[in-house]
Amino acid sequence: MRIDIITVLPELLKSPFEHSMMKRAQAKGLLEVHTHNLRKWAINNQGQVDDYQYGGGAGMVMMCEPLTNAIEELTKGRNYDEIIYLTPDGEKFNQKIANSLSLKENIMMVCGHYKGIDERIRQHFVTREISIGDYVLSGGELAAAVLTDAIGRLLPGVLNDETSALFDSFQDNLLAPPVYTRPADFRGWKVPDILLSGDPKKIDDWRHDEAVKRTQERRPGMLDE
Ligand code: 6GU
Repeated sequence: MRIDIITVLPELLKSPFEHSMMKRAQAKGLLEVHTHNLRKWAINNQGQVDDYQYGGGAGMVMMCEPLTNAIEELTKGRNYDEIIYLTPDGEKFNQKIANSLSLKENIMMVCGHYKGIDERIRQHFVTREISIGDYVLSGGELAAAVLTDAIGRLLPGVLNDETSALFDSFQDNLLAPPVYTRPADFRGWKVPDILLSGDPKKIDDWRHDEAVKRTQERRPGMLDE
């Protein structure tokens, strides 16, 4: 899979992909992440990509021309399955969306800043609008990094058996059960006996029960889905 990200802050999108699973996914050739500095398509040599909004009001809007030129240059090179605009008024991101996006070949992401991007870009190029939650970030970059991580780790071959996504919270509409490691007794805080029993069936049942209990307590709505 290839992900192309258009941004005014490419620096912000370096480190998140240089570690752990995202590093591994790229090293194995399973994931390519390309960031593109929108200023490359600026309308003048001051690097301008935004302007005042029509109708007045505080805050700049990202202009049609640089975004159009960026998007069209990229779409000339390949067919994108989705052109995603990251925006707080988009569809709320979840595991189901991550799963479906992980099946795509080419995804473009457009990161907004300031007051957002000119509405005409959303109408004419964007195929999907996604938010990562009900709060406002300064720009779409951290959201693009969240999507890329959530999608990238699902690509076949990125995770091994031990880290398999099949047992993630949300994958079966259940939160994950509690986990423990050595020592079995720390300051008198004990690991549940059943986990030390060596009985795989009992342990599986316990984990499932704990996952259901945790989901009922914390996210009851998930059990109805
Ligand atoms: Cl995708 N962008 C911004 N700027 N803020 C957000 C968001 C996205 N999702 C939640 N808050």
